[in-house]
Amino acid sequence: MEHHVKDPNLVKQGRQRIEWAEIEMPVLRSIRERLTRERPLAGLRIAACLHVTTETAALMRTLVAGGAQLRLCASNPLSTQDDVAAALVEEQTAVFAVKGEDRNTYYRHINQALDIKPHLTMDDGADLVSTIHSTRQELLKEVIAGTEETTTGVIRLRAMARDGALKYPMVAVNDAKTKHLFDNRYGTGQSTIDGLLRATNLLLAGKTLVICGYGSCGRGLASRARGMGAQVIVTEVSPLHALEAVMEGYQVLPMLEAAR
Ligand SMILES: NC(=O)c1ccc[n+]([C@@H]2O[C@H](COP(=O)([O-])OP(=O)(O)OC[C@H]3O[C@@H](n4cnc5c(N)ncnc54)[C@H](O)[C@@H]3O)[C@@H](O)[C@H]2O)c1
Repeated sequence: MEHHVKDPNLVKQGRQRIEWAEIEMPVLRSIRERLTRERPLAGLRIAACLHVTTETAALMRTLVAGGAQLRLCASNPLSTQDDVAAALVEEQTAVFAVKGEDRNTYYRHINQALDIKPHLTMDDGADLVSTIHSTRQELLKEVIAGTEETTTGVIRLRAMARDGALKYPMVAVNDAKTKHLFDNRYGTGQSTIDGLLRATNLLLAGKTLVICGYGSCGRGLASRARGMGAQVIVTEVSPLHALEAVMEGYQVLPMLEAAR
């Protein structure tokens, strides 16, 4: 099976981490039981471009249980968990993702995922959709539909749909209220802090943190940063969201002043 991951020796660790994540994913587990029985995806080819992490691995296992044939590449060159990628390959899911891959490799991997000639695409940032619509248009005739995960991707797709440029229907996963709640507000609220702390090893208490945008992610991040003792400044273009931030007790400033 064609694939490209960093190190096949990481399988055991990857598998353990996927199993740990699955313990916390009861909804997906119950969907998997149904898909295993009904096999509704038998005969379908799926290209997925998502964060190659434990949670995505649980999703990939579920799709395979439903009968799908899969190829997975990264939607971000930095979020790939190499051990998880190795574990998926061991289970016969074709993964094309290496943490820290350069730009050329990133786009090569996207094209390798698309080489499966997908019936369905799964995006987190619209990379598959935009590659298919620009350089791989020959694939359009077989694509039935796709999913888009994130706010920015959905904004791009809505613009394409308005211009009549979007050639197949998409499910905007980001519009699901639970997606906003779990992923954007609480998930990104926590993981952004995690990333900042791992990268800088700084004490957050007493620091001033500027958050650009008080939407779903911004709210989650603001409340967590405040909880850890940071002074939070919000910048906003929406007067309503700016007002909400003020009412929550944050300082709201124009970016030029906040940056200072
Ligand atoms: N990495 C991840 O796992 C992950 C997860 C979820 C969302 N995201 C991304 O995070 C971003 C925010 O997502 P969201 O769901 O919070 O979006 P949102 O639409 O809920 O919020 C965005 C906010 O930014 C404000 N804004 C827009 N332009 C601004 C500007 N120039 N200055 C200040 N404020 C501005 C908007 O008024 C809005 O309040 C998106 O790019 C989304 O794709 C990433």
